[in-house]
Amino acid sequence: MSVPADPIAAAIHPDPYPYYADLVAWRPFDFDARTGLWVAASAEAVRAVLSAPATRVRPPAEPVPATLADSAAGELFGRFLRMRDGKPHGALRQEVAGALACHGPAAVAAETNRQLDRLLAGRRSLDDIVDRLPPLVVGALCGLTDPALPEIAMLAATFARGIAAGRPAGQVALARQAAVDLGNRLSGCGFAGLDAELAVANLVGVMVQSYEATVGLIGLALIAQARHPELAATDPVAFVDEVLRHDAPVQNTRRFMAEDAVIAGREVGAGQGILVLLAAANRDPQANPRPDAFCLDRPDRQVFTFGLGQHRCPAHGMAAVIAATALGRLAGRVLSGQPIRYRPSLNARMPLVG
Ligand code: HEM
Repeated sequence: MSVPADPIAAAIHPDPYPYYADLVAWRPFDFDARTGLWVAASAEAVRAVLSAPATRVRPPAEPVPATLADSAAGELFGRFLRMRDGKPHGALRQEVAGALACHGPAAVAAETNRQLDRLLAGRRSLDDIVDRLPPLVVGALCGLTDPALPEIAMLAATFARGIAAGRPAGQVALARQAAVDLGNRLSGCGFAGLDAELAVANLVGVMVQSYEATVGLIGLALIAQARHPELAATDPVAFVDEVLRHDAPVQNTRRFMAEDAVIAGREVGAGQGILVLLAAANRDPQANPRPDAFCLDRPDRQVFTFGLGQHRCPAHGMAAVIAATALGRLAGRVLSGQPIRYRPSLNARMPLVG
Protein backbone atom coordinates (compact mmCIF):
# COMPACT_ATOMS: atom_id res chain seq x y z
CA MET A 1 0.00 0.00 0.00
CA SER A 2 1.19 3.56 -0.76
CA VAL A 3 2.56 5.76 2.02
CA PRO A 4 0.61 8.99 2.78
CA ALA A 5 2.12 11.97 0.91
CA ASP A 6 2.30 13.97 4.14
CA PRO A 7 0.80 14.00 7.65
CA ILE A 8 -2.28 15.94 6.48
CA ALA A 9 -3.02 13.55 3.61
CA ALA A 10 -2.78 10.71 6.16
CA ALA A 11 -6.18 11.70 7.59
CA ILE A 12 -8.04 9.98 4.73
CA HIS A 13 -5.40 7.43 3.70
CA PRO A 14 -6.75 3.82 3.74
CA ASP A 15 -4.17 2.81 6.38
CA PRO A 16 -2.11 5.70 7.81
CA TYR A 17 -1.12 3.75 10.94
CA PRO A 18 2.28 2.30 9.87
CA TYR A 19 3.26 5.83 8.75
CA TYR A 20 2.13 7.30 12.09
CA ALA A 21 4.04 4.55 13.94
CA ASP A 22 7.26 5.63 12.15
CA LEU A 23 6.65 9.25 13.14
CA VAL A 24 6.01 8.27 16.77
CA ALA A 25 9.23 6.21 16.85
CA TRP A 26 11.58 8.44 14.88
CA ARG A 27 10.14 11.96 14.63
CA PRO A 28 7.82 12.39 17.64
CA PHE A 29 7.96 16.20 17.35
CA ASP A 30 9.64 17.66 14.31
CA PHE A 31 9.33 20.27 11.59
CA ASP A 32 7.80 18.97 8.33
CA ALA A 33 9.17 20.88 5.34
CA ARG A 34 6.43 19.64 2.97
CA THR A 35 3.57 21.15 4.93
CA GLY A 36 5.55 23.94 6.61
CA LEU A 37 4.16 22.78 9.96
CA TRP A 38 5.61 21.30 13.11
CA VAL A 39 4.14 17.83 13.61
CA ALA A 40 3.43 16.32 17.03
CA ALA A 41 2.95 12.55 16.79
CA SER A 42 3.84 10.87 20.08
CA ALA A 43 1.56 10.91 23.11
CA GLU A 44 4.15 12.96 24.99
CA ALA A 45 4.47 15.57 22.22
CA VAL A 46 0.69 15.83 21.76
CA ARG A 47 0.26 16.39 25.50
CA ALA A 48 3.03 19.01 25.49
CA VAL A 49 1.54 20.98 22.58
CA LEU A 50 -2.04 20.92 23.84
CA SER A 51 -0.98 22.13 27.29
CA ALA A 52 1.57 24.77 26.17
CA PRO A 53 0.53 28.30 27.24
CA ALA A 54 2.14 29.79 24.09
CA THR A 55 -0.22 28.02 21.69
CA ARG A 56 -3.51 29.35 20.27
CA VAL A 57 -6.36 27.67 18.37
CA ARG A 58 -6.19 30.25 15.57
CA PRO A 59 -3.25 32.05 13.96
CA PRO A 60 -3.00 35.28 16.05
CA ALA A 61 -2.94 37.36 12.82
CA GLU A 62 -6.02 35.61 11.36
CA PRO A 63 -8.67 34.97 14.04
CA VAL A 64 -11.22 34.33 11.27
CA PRO A 65 -10.27 32.56 7.99
CA ALA A 66 -9.73 35.04 5.13
CA THR A 67 -12.42 33.27 3.07
CA LEU A 68 -15.04 34.22 5.69
CA ALA A 69 -13.83 37.74 6.51
CA ASP A 70 -16.39 40.58 6.44
CA SER A 71 -19.42 38.29 6.36
CA ALA A 72 -22.08 36.91 8.69
CA ALA A 73 -20.17 33.62 8.44
CA GLY A 74 -17.01 35.26 9.77
CA GLU A 75 -18.90 36.86 12.67
CA LEU A 76 -20.46 33.53 13.60
CA PHE A 77 -17.10 31.73 13.38
CA GLY A 78 -15.36 34.33 15.57
CA ARG A 79 -17.94 33.84 18.33
CA PHE A 80 -17.56 30.04 18.54
CA LEU A 81 -16.16 28.69 21.79
CA ARG A 82 -13.83 26.47 19.77
CA MET A 83 -12.19 29.46 18.09
CA ARG A 84 -11.47 31.55 21.22
CA ASP A 85 -8.62 31.56 23.71
CA GLY A 86 -7.85 33.01 27.12
CA LYS A 87 -10.47 34.89 29.12
CA PRO A 88 -13.12 35.09 26.36
CA HIS A 89 -12.91 31.30 26.18
CA GLY A 90 -13.12 30.46 29.89
CA ALA A 91 -16.48 31.97 30.83
CA LEU A 92 -18.11 30.89 27.57
CA ARG A 93 -16.85 27.34 28.04
CA GLN A 94 -18.52 27.12 31.44
CA GLU A 95 -21.92 28.01 29.96
CA VAL A 96 -21.70 25.83 26.85
CA ALA A 97 -20.15 22.79 28.51
CA GLY A 98 -22.67 23.11 31.37
CA ALA A 99 -25.58 23.16 28.93
CA LEU A 100 -24.27 20.05 27.14
CA ALA A 101 -23.52 18.17 30.37
CA CYS A 102 -27.08 18.40 31.67
CA HIS A 103 -28.25 15.71 29.21
CA GLY A 104 -27.59 12.26 30.66
CA PRO A 105 -27.00 9.12 28.58
CA ALA A 106 -30.65 8.02 28.72
CA ALA A 107 -31.89 11.35 27.33
CA VAL A 108 -29.25 11.34 24.58
CA ALA A 109 -30.12 7.75 23.59
CA ALA A 110 -33.86 8.55 23.57
CA GLU A 111 -33.36 11.61 21.34
CA THR A 112 -31.05 9.64 19.02
CA ASN A 113 -33.70 6.93 18.70
CA ARG A 114 -36.42 9.50 18.03
CA GLN A 115 -34.40 11.13 15.24
CA LEU A 116 -33.44 7.71 13.82
CA ASP A 117 -37.11 6.64 13.74
CA ARG A 118 -37.81 9.62 11.52
CA LEU A 119 -34.79 9.22 9.29
CA LEU A 120 -35.33 5.47 8.83
CA ALA A 121 -38.99 6.04 7.94
CA GLY A 122 -37.80 8.31 5.10
CA ARG A 123 -36.14 5.43 3.21
CA ARG A 124 -32.88 7.35 2.94
CA SER A 125 -29.44 5.94 2.07
CA LEU A 126 -27.21 4.97 5.00
CA ASP A 127 -24.80 7.83 4.20
CA ASP A 128 -27.69 10.29 4.26
CA ILE A 129 -28.93 9.00 7.63
CA VAL A 130 -25.44 9.16 9.18
CA ASP A 131 -24.94 12.64 7.72
CA ARG A 132 -28.15 14.10 9.12
CA LEU A 133 -28.22 12.50 12.54
CA PRO A 134 -25.62 14.41 14.67
CA PRO A 135 -26.84 18.02 14.27
CA LEU A 136 -30.47 16.85 14.57
CA VAL A 137 -29.81 15.17 17.92
CA VAL A 138 -27.63 17.97 19.28
CA GLY A 139 -30.05 20.67 18.08
CA ALA A 140 -33.01 18.89 19.68
CA LEU A 141 -31.15 18.40 22.98
CA CYS A 142 -30.31 22.12 22.95
CA GLY A 143 -33.99 23.02 22.71
CA LEU A 144 -34.73 23.32 18.97
CA THR A 145 -38.05 21.84 17.99
CA ASP A 146 -40.01 20.84 14.88
CA PRO A 147 -40.87 22.03 12.34
CA ALA A 148 -37.77 24.28 12.26
CA LEU A 149 -35.21 21.72 13.51
CA PRO A 150 -34.51 19.70 10.30
CA GLU A 151 -33.81 22.80 8.23
CA ILE A 152 -31.64 24.40 10.94
CA ALA A 153 -29.66 21.17 11.36
CA MET A 154 -29.07 21.04 7.60
CA LEU A 155 -27.94 24.67 7.53
CA ALA A 156 -25.51 23.96 10.40
CA ALA A 157 -24.09 21.01 8.43
CA THR A 158 -23.72 23.19 5.31
CA PHE A 159 -21.92 25.79 7.41
CA ALA A 160 -19.62 23.13 8.94
CA ARG A 161 -18.71 21.74 5.50
CA GLY A 162 -17.73 25.19 4.18
CA ILE A 163 -15.65 26.44 7.11
CA ALA A 164 -13.34 23.44 7.41
CA ALA A 165 -9.80 24.08 6.15
CA GLY A 166 -9.17 23.56 2.43
CA ARG A 167 -12.78 23.36 1.24
CA PRO A 168 -13.63 24.35 -2.39
CA ALA A 169 -15.01 27.83 -3.15
CA GLY A 170 -18.51 26.44 -3.85
CA GLN A 171 -18.80 24.99 -0.35
CA VAL A 172 -17.47 28.20 1.19
CA ALA A 173 -20.13 30.21 -0.67
CA LEU A 174 -22.86 27.88 0.60
CA ALA A 175 -21.51 28.30 4.15
CA ARG A 176 -21.62 32.09 3.83
CA GLN A 177 -25.28 31.92 2.79
CA ALA A 178 -26.07 29.35 5.51
CA ALA A 179 -24.74 31.79 8.13
CA VAL A 180 -27.18 34.46 6.97
CA ASP A 181 -30.09 31.98 6.99
CA LEU A 182 -29.14 30.65 10.44
CA GLY A 183 -29.02 34.19 11.81
CA ASN A 184 -32.56 34.84 10.50
CA ARG A 185 -34.01 31.52 11.74
CA LEU A 186 -32.40 31.56 15.19
CA SER A 187 -32.85 35.14 16.29
CA GLY A 188 -33.72 35.08 20.03
CA CYS A 189 -32.65 31.40 20.48
CA GLY A 190 -29.59 29.90 22.12
CA PHE A 191 -27.99 29.09 25.45
CA ALA A 192 -29.26 30.94 28.52
CA GLY A 193 -26.68 32.98 30.46
CA LEU A 194 -24.98 34.40 27.36
CA ASP A 195 -25.54 37.65 25.51
CA ALA A 196 -27.80 37.29 22.47
CA GLU A 197 -25.10 37.08 19.78
CA LEU A 198 -22.93 34.58 21.68
CA ALA A 199 -26.02 32.54 22.57
CA VAL A 200 -27.10 32.07 18.94
CA ALA A 201 -23.56 31.58 17.64
CA ASN A 202 -22.77 28.86 20.15
CA LEU A 203 -26.03 27.04 19.56
CA VAL A 204 -24.90 26.86 15.93
CA GLY A 205 -21.38 26.11 17.20
CA VAL A 206 -22.31 22.91 19.01
CA MET A 207 -24.23 21.60 15.98
CA VAL A 208 -21.25 22.49 13.77
CA GLN A 209 -18.75 20.83 16.14
CA SER A 210 -20.91 17.73 16.35
CA TYR A 211 -21.20 17.31 12.60
CA GLU A 212 -18.09 15.91 10.86
CA ALA A 213 -16.61 14.30 13.99
CA THR A 214 -19.77 12.33 14.81
CA VAL A 215 -20.53 11.48 11.17
CA GLY A 216 -17.01 10.01 11.07
CA LEU A 217 -17.46 8.22 14.38
CA ILE A 218 -20.71 6.52 13.35
CA GLY A 219 -19.27 5.51 9.96
CA LEU A 220 -16.04 4.13 11.42
CA ALA A 221 -17.99 2.33 14.17
CA LEU A 222 -20.26 0.69 11.55
CA ILE A 223 -17.20 -0.49 9.62
CA ALA A 224 -15.59 -1.84 12.80
CA GLN A 225 -18.90 -3.54 13.66
CA ALA A 226 -18.88 -5.34 10.31
CA ARG A 227 -15.37 -6.63 11.17
CA HIS A 228 -16.07 -7.56 14.81
CA PRO A 229 -19.86 -8.11 15.12
CA GLU A 230 -19.58 -10.20 18.29
CA LEU A 231 -17.59 -7.50 20.11
CA ALA A 232 -20.03 -4.76 19.07
CA ALA A 233 -22.94 -6.78 20.45
CA THR A 234 -21.18 -7.46 23.78
CA ASP A 235 -20.71 -3.86 24.94
CA PRO A 236 -21.58 -1.10 22.42
CA VAL A 237 -20.20 1.76 24.56
CA ALA A 238 -16.82 0.05 25.18
CA PHE A 239 -16.83 -0.82 21.47
CA VAL A 240 -17.25 2.84 20.49
CA ASP A 241 -14.48 3.83 22.96
CA GLU A 242 -12.08 1.46 21.23
CA VAL A 243 -13.12 2.71 17.77
CA LEU A 244 -12.35 6.24 18.99
CA ARG A 245 -8.83 5.13 19.94
CA HIS A 246 -8.10 2.69 17.14
CA ASP A 247 -9.36 4.65 14.11
CA ALA A 248 -9.89 8.25 15.23
CA PRO A 249 -12.65 10.18 13.40
CA VAL A 250 -10.73 13.41 14.15
CA GLN A 251 -7.21 12.55 13.07
CA ASN A 252 -5.57 15.88 13.78
CA THR A 253 -6.05 19.38 15.09
CA ARG A 254 -3.86 22.46 14.88
CA ARG A 255 -2.24 25.02 17.12
CA PHE A 256 -0.43 28.29 16.35
CA MET A 257 2.37 29.92 18.31
CA ALA A 258 1.61 33.30 19.89
CA GLU A 259 5.27 33.70 20.95
CA ASP A 260 8.58 31.85 20.81
CA ALA A 261 8.64 28.90 23.22
CA VAL A 262 10.28 25.57 23.89
CA ILE A 263 7.84 22.72 23.39
CA ALA A 264 8.77 19.07 23.92
CA GLY A 265 12.42 20.14 23.97
CA ARG A 266 12.32 22.02 20.63
CA GLU A 267 12.39 25.76 19.98
CA VAL A 268 9.25 26.75 18.09
CA GLY A 269 8.96 30.27 16.73
CA ALA A 270 6.12 32.78 17.06
CA GLY A 271 3.65 32.46 14.18
CA GLN A 272 4.50 28.84 13.38
CA GLY A 273 1.76 26.24 13.03
CA ILE A 274 1.66 22.81 14.67
CA LEU A 275 -0.22 19.80 13.36
CA VAL A 276 -1.27 17.68 16.35
CA LEU A 277 -1.70 14.05 15.28
CA LEU A 278 -4.29 12.80 17.77
CA ALA A 279 -4.69 9.56 15.81
CA ALA A 280 -0.96 8.84 15.98
CA ALA A 281 -0.83 9.46 19.75
CA ASN A 282 -3.69 6.96 20.25
CA ARG A 283 -1.39 4.29 18.77
CA ASP A 284 1.75 5.30 20.67
CA PRO A 285 2.81 2.11 22.52
CA GLN A 286 3.92 4.28 25.48
CA ALA A 287 0.25 5.30 25.91
CA ASN A 288 -1.53 2.13 24.82
CA PRO A 289 0.40 -1.18 24.85
CA ARG A 290 -0.23 -3.39 21.76
CA PRO A 291 -1.65 -0.29 20.05
CA ASP A 292 -2.70 -1.95 16.78
CA ALA A 293 -4.89 -4.56 18.47
CA PHE A 294 -8.63 -3.80 18.56
CA CYS A 295 -9.36 -4.70 22.13
CA LEU A 296 -12.36 -3.80 24.33
CA ASP A 297 -10.88 -4.60 27.73
CA ARG A 298 -7.92 -2.21 27.82
CA PRO A 299 -7.40 -1.46 31.53
CA ASP A 300 -6.29 2.17 31.08
CA ARG A 301 -7.24 3.23 27.57
CA GLN A 302 -5.62 6.58 26.62
CA VAL A 303 -7.76 8.34 24.03
CA PHE A 304 -6.48 11.59 22.46
CA THR A 305 -9.29 11.84 19.90
CA PHE A 306 -11.28 14.42 21.90
CA GLY A 307 -8.23 16.63 22.46
CA LEU A 308 -6.80 17.67 25.82
CA GLY A 309 -6.53 20.76 27.97
CA GLN A 310 -8.67 23.87 27.74
CA HIS A 311 -10.32 23.03 24.43
CA ARG A 312 -10.94 19.31 25.03
CA CYS A 313 -14.30 18.24 23.67
CA PRO A 314 -17.06 18.95 26.20
CA ALA A 315 -19.38 16.44 24.51
CA HIS A 316 -17.37 13.22 24.37
CA GLY A 317 -19.94 11.32 26.45
CA MET A 318 -22.82 12.63 24.35
CA ALA A 319 -21.06 11.71 21.09
CA ALA A 320 -20.28 8.19 22.31
CA VAL A 321 -23.92 7.56 23.25
CA ILE A 322 -25.18 8.89 19.89
CA ALA A 323 -22.76 6.54 18.10
CA ALA A 324 -23.50 3.51 20.30
CA THR A 325 -27.26 4.00 19.83
CA ALA A 326 -26.87 4.39 16.06
CA LEU A 327 -24.74 1.25 15.97
CA GLY A 328 -27.57 -0.77 17.52
CA ARG A 329 -30.17 0.57 15.10
CA LEU A 330 -28.05 0.38 11.93
CA ALA A 331 -26.36 -2.99 12.64
CA GLY A 332 -25.67 -5.20 9.65
CA ARG A 333 -26.05 -2.47 7.02
CA VAL A 334 -22.30 -2.29 6.25
CA LEU A 335 -20.55 -5.33 4.79
CA SER A 336 -17.07 -6.37 5.87
CA GLY A 337 -14.19 -6.39 3.38
CA GLN A 338 -15.47 -3.69 1.00
CA PRO A 339 -12.90 -1.08 -0.13
CA ILE A 340 -13.53 2.12 1.85
CA ARG A 341 -13.65 5.64 0.41
CA TYR A 342 -13.47 8.71 2.63
CA ARG A 343 -15.02 12.13 2.17
CA PRO A 344 -12.40 14.77 1.31
CA SER A 345 -11.05 16.36 4.49
CA LEU A 346 -7.76 17.61 5.96
CA ASN A 347 -8.53 16.36 9.44
CA ALA A 348 -11.72 14.28 9.70
CA ARG A 349 -11.96 10.63 8.71
CA MET A 350 -15.49 10.17 7.37
CA PRO A 351 -16.01 6.91 5.47
CA LEU A 352 -18.75 6.52 2.87
CA VAL A 353 -20.87 3.62 4.09
CA GLY A 354 -23.55 3.23 1.42
C1 HEM B 1 -22.35 15.54 20.24
C2 HEM B 1 -21.35 15.78 19.43
C3 HEM B 1 -20.28 16.84 19.71
C4 HEM B 1 -20.40 18.11 20.18
C5 HEM B 1 -21.68 18.85 20.57
C6 HEM B 1 -19.05 18.65 20.28
C7 HEM B 1 -18.76 19.93 20.74
C8 HEM B 1 -17.49 20.46 20.86
C9 HEM B 1 -17.18 21.81 21.26
C10 HEM B 1 -18.20 22.89 21.61
C11 HEM B 1 -15.82 21.93 21.27
C12 HEM B 1 -15.01 23.19 21.59
C13 HEM B 1 -14.55 23.16 23.03
C14 HEM B 1 -13.66 24.31 23.38
O1 HEM B 1 -13.04 24.89 22.50
O2 HEM B 1 -13.57 24.63 24.58
C15 HEM B 1 -15.27 20.65 20.86
C16 HEM B 1 -13.92 20.38 20.78
C17 HEM B 1 -13.44 19.21 20.26
N1 HEM B 1 -14.16 18.10 19.85
FE1 HEM B 1 -16.14 17.85 20.01
N2 HEM B 1 -18.17 17.71 19.87
C18 HEM B 1 -18.87 16.58 19.51
C19 HEM B 1 -18.35 15.40 19.02
C20 HEM B 1 -17.02 15.15 18.85
C21 HEM B 1 -16.48 13.91 18.37
C22 HEM B 1 -17.29 12.68 17.95
C23 HEM B 1 -15.13 14.06 18.34
C24 HEM B 1 -14.07 13.09 17.91
C25 HEM B 1 -14.32 12.00 17.27
C26 HEM B 1 -14.83 15.40 18.81
C27 HEM B 1 -13.55 15.92 18.92
C28 HEM B 1 -13.27 17.18 19.41
C29 HEM B 1 -11.92 17.69 19.53
C30 HEM B 1 -10.63 16.97 19.13
C31 HEM B 1 -12.02 18.96 20.08
C32 HEM B 1 -10.87 19.89 20.46
C33 HEM B 1 -10.23 20.49 19.26
C34 HEM B 1 -8.96 21.22 19.65
O3 HEM B 1 -8.60 21.33 20.83
O4 HEM B 1 -8.30 21.69 18.72
N3 HEM B 1 -15.99 16.02 19.11
N4 HEM B 1 -16.30 19.76 20.62
